[in-house]
Amino acid sequence: MKRTQVLELPAEEIVHQREIMREFASREDRPRTYFVVTYGCQMNAHDSEKLEGMLLEMGMTKAQSRETADFVIFNTCCIRDNAERRALGNVVWLKELKKTRPEMMVAVCGCMMQQPGMGERILRQYPFVDVAFGTHNLYRFAQLMLQALQTRRRVVEVIEEEGSIPEALPVHRSSPYHAYITIMYGCNNFCSYCIVPYVRGRERSRASARIIEEARQLKAEGVREIMLLGQNVNSYGLDVEGELSFAQLLESLDQVGIERIRFMTSHPKDISDELIDVMARSSHICHALHLPVQHGNNRILQSMNRRYTRESYLDRVALLRRKIPDISLTTDLIVGYPGETEEEFEDTCSLVREVGYDSAFTFIYSPRAGTRAADMDGQIPAEVSSRRIQKLIGIQKEITRERYARYMDGVHSVLVEEISKRDENQMAGKDEYNITVNFPGTPEQIGQIVRVKITSAGESTLRGEQV
Ligand code: 5AD
Ligand code: SF4
Repeated sequence: MKRTQVLELPAEEIVHQREIMREFASREDRPRTYFVVTYGCQMNAHDSEKLEGMLLEMGMTKAQSRETADFVIFNTCCIRDNAERRALGNVVWLKELKKTRPEMMVAVCGCMMQQPGMGERILRQYPFVDVAFGTHNLYRFAQLMLQALQTRRRVVEVIEEEGSIPEALPVHRSSPYHAYITIMYGCNNFCSYCIVPYVRGRERSRASARIIEEARQLKAEGVREIMLLGQNVNSYGLDVEGELSFAQLLESLDQVGIERIRFMTSHPKDISDELIDVMARSSHICHALHLPVQHGNNRILQSMNRRYTRESYLDRVALLRRKIPDISLTTDLIVGYPGETEEEFEDTCSLVREVGYDSAFTFIYSPRAGTRAADMDGQIPAEVSSRRIQKLIGIQKEITRERYARYMDGVHSVLVEEISKRDENQMAGKDEYNITVNFPGTPEQIGQIVRVKITSAGESTLRGEQV
């Protein structure tokens, strides 16, 4: 069902929230320093940049570490069990610290909080957490903090329904050269294994005019690379009548003139011919595409509710390679999905070989309460899944080596980001394919795009010399 217009929070609400931030900043009893601990995907990393924007307006400065901060906030993830356990483990660890520094404030937010019953669980089992909220009310962060300070009571607010989109919140970007732009929130796909639609709500696109304006502003500030974010960017605009399609949005953003445009994540079922054509003819869209396939077997793909087949996926890949011969493809893969037989797993291995990804993220299936797959028969024993994932990682390693060998002697453009962690005479940055490249250079080059001839390859990085 289409909306007639983009759902935005009324501007007065944001003005009101910013007043609260200033009120908070004027309080003598406010925490003075903060530390944000982030788990999970880029969407969460960008949410943390918004939290930092608000924290600075609330009159706090960033602490060197979580141990020394007056206020620590955990922005959590729940995509797999280990992400959740790690977050909760660290929250508990803070409990000890708080014993020695009782004035310290602790907050928990993000996807983990959106799961049913989590608010009550925090109240019951984690008495040292002062403030907790979910993904849908992030914009009310200052208000919840002020309430906790005023009442000296714990504040837990989780809203189940996704709301309207907050625009014009402050944001503190972690890099002056590359920036995230959210283009849409939520996901409608309900892949059988995935918790995201439950914790991030239905798809809501931001207005294209807002997105383009944000890109223009970033260009004026000297940003050289933007990453467009959404759980399924290919369905951008479909929820709003008369809105641009994703391909059209990309075309408009290409005109803005920022040197590099990337986007994630793309759902293979929605990669349109139009999108491939726009990528091929654009001046600034990187020839790199993250295209999660998840599995190589049709029975499993169907059970996962992915709505494409191995064959139709391979057709898309063939078209991409024909129209954009240098395209670098990466993917996500799941092993140990309920009922996965040895032969079905082998189909994933053969697909990986057939496509030739530059790299792949491999995951062991993790049952998530409330998703369809969690209740399926045939859950795979841990030792079988680990053996399968080890095999798959080995295969991908070999393919990465072959792919990287093709880059030898090629000249790549590298956006220089930092001094290499391994060698202070080397600089490190990302090339157009999103691969880390190291080369002998100087710190003055940080923020510049330089031409580097590739001379050798490591397991996940390239090395070269400036030309
Ligand atoms: N178990 C394992 N991996 C998962 N992913 C999503 N849900 C699960 C799950 N329950 C993986 C998918 C997705 C990536 C972000 O995380 O591969 O593309
Ligand atoms: Fe999860 Fe599927 Fe949506 Fe991706 S497309 S966020 S895997 S439900």
